[in-house]
Amino acid sequence: SGAVKLKDVSWSFEGPFGEYNKAELQRGFQVYKEVCSACHSLHSIAFRNLADLGFSEAEVKAIAKGYEVQDGPDKDGEMFNRAARPSDHIPGPYANEQQGRAANGGSLPPDLSLMAKARANGPAYIYSLLTGYVDAPADFTVLEGMHYNTYFPGHSIAMPPPLSADQVTYADGTKASVEQMSHDLSAFLMWAAEPKLEQRHELGFKVMIFLVLLTVLFYFANRKVWGPVK
Ligand code: HEM
Repeated sequence: SGAVKLKDVSWSFEGPFGEYNKAELQRGFQVYKEVCSACHSLHSIAFRNLADLGFSEAEVKAIAKGYEVQDGPDKDGEMFNRAARPSDHIPGPYANEQQGRAANGGSLPPDLSLMAKARANGPAYIYSLLTGYVDAPADFTVLEGMHYNTYFPGHSIAMPPPLSADQVTYADGTKASVEQMSHDLSAFLMWAAEPKLEQRHELGFKVMIFLVLLTVLFYFANRKVWGPVK
């Protein structure tokens, strides 16, 4: 049935002056951690990157300590597990692709690091997908282990609806509706895919100011050089 129009959502990071909302990114991380990370990795993000979200150094350390990562080999050539440090990347849920597929009926939950960039209109797509589980139309056959989603290409998706109301208890007291969690997650995944967006916007703004000043300078230089001739 062709391309489905995505839900129209607004984002704090839209437009030339757009910025991430740190409270929202923290909520998005909380939902990723408590829900999505059971199946999806986020391999581009190291714990220390979470300082961008407004977490202090001590908070980043504490978050990292809650994870185990594999390290080694030690002096006997053995691999070993230890608590994660801020410089470690967030470990994914599976040791390898086979394990990931085995746990999901043959489908592989993709890494979410670049998802907000990999799909057209990424944040709106992720938001629409997460809020897009509905009953299949009568003439649509949903195969065993699959789920109907308005926004997934082909509508048949292996991911079960991951969110339900009040699934997380937000640290900042925000009410955790499916729409709220989906919005927070989409913003968080946009940050994960483009952590330097604000610096890019800021540079663009400086370049614009520079070009305006340069235009003014050229105008007066032109008058000074050619004025006496006219
Ligand atoms: C696919 C997001 C939770 C299993 C996906 C996709 C996204 C996504 C964006 C890719 C869709 C595409 O390819 O266009 C999320 C988010 C979650 C979440 C944000 C947390 C709210 C889960 C959980 C599971 C899961 C908990 C496992 C129980 C899968 C699988 C696929 C998938 C198997 C592949 C679907 C297919 O190719 O048919 N997810 N997911 N996801 N997810 Fe999730």
